[in-house]
Amino acid sequence: MKPEIRIVEDATELYRAAADEFGRRAAEAGREKGMFTVALSGGSTPRGLYALLAREGPDVVRTRIPWQRIRFFWGDERHVPPDHSDSNYRLAHEALLSKVPVPAGHIHRIPAERPDASEAAEEYARTLREHVRPGDGGLPRLDLVLLGMGPDGHTASLFPGSGAVDERERLVAAPWVEKLRAYRITLTPPVLNNAACVLFLVAGADKAETLQAVLSEGDHPDRFPAQIIRPTNGELLWLVDRAAGRGLAGGGVAGN
Ligand code: 6PG
Repeated sequence: MKPEIRIVEDATELYRAAADEFGRRAAEAGREKGMFTVALSGGSTPRGLYALLAREGPDVVRTRIPWQRIRFFWGDERHVPPDHSDSNYRLAHEALLSKVPVPAGHIHRIPAERPDASEAAEEYARTLREHVRPGDGGLPRLDLVLLGMGPDGHTASLFPGSGAVDERERLVAAPWVEKLRAYRITLTPPVLNNAACVLFLVAGADKAETLQAVLSEGDHPDRFPAQIIRPTNGELLWLVDRAAGRGLAGGGVAGN
């Protein structure tokens, strides 16, 4: 399936579009399957989305989201405890999960406090297999995966030059990331590409050049790991603000 690229005016519109996609898919899956499984992304971009999803009020997305029928996972995590300022779990918990009625047993954070990152990855793979319905090939098939993209073209914790980009067997890996001088725990291409929908959120001028290379130039996933993300039987949607999308063909804004 060809990726859909939607360029919106600014970060506020990005969050609104992402919240609408999240809400629509959660409501549909909740209705049709009784459960919606989503892997959240980390970094700073999604904070605005999480805040919007958590907002009270009759007019916002939150009212139609079946919170009791959602299981939350993470696409990656830093190798830190859940209360650490760098924790992707802490980001989502503070901005969203502490404010909506998701059953505690439906929040499946990556156990990144474990001293051995590889053991954390193995434990999380078991968690995915236990709580995410398998697709045709038997791998866990998440309904939605939220991803960001760094200026270096990484996504989740699939960084250029890190072995996890080429992982084809394990569901979760614990690569050493030289540039960060740290381990990360990350879902791998087999499970990310088995999702029913992958939604990238990319904002900011600092990503424009890389985004153009990722979406418009040749295939170099070793240089731009975000290129490895191609759902085998699912949707791929890039939600991009005008600043990040300025180098894309028709860098105009959706709807204009
Ligand atoms: C992380 C994320 C990472 C992030 C990108 C973009 O743990 O940092 O999972 O992949 O999505 O680095 O981050 P920003 O949204 O902060 O630019």
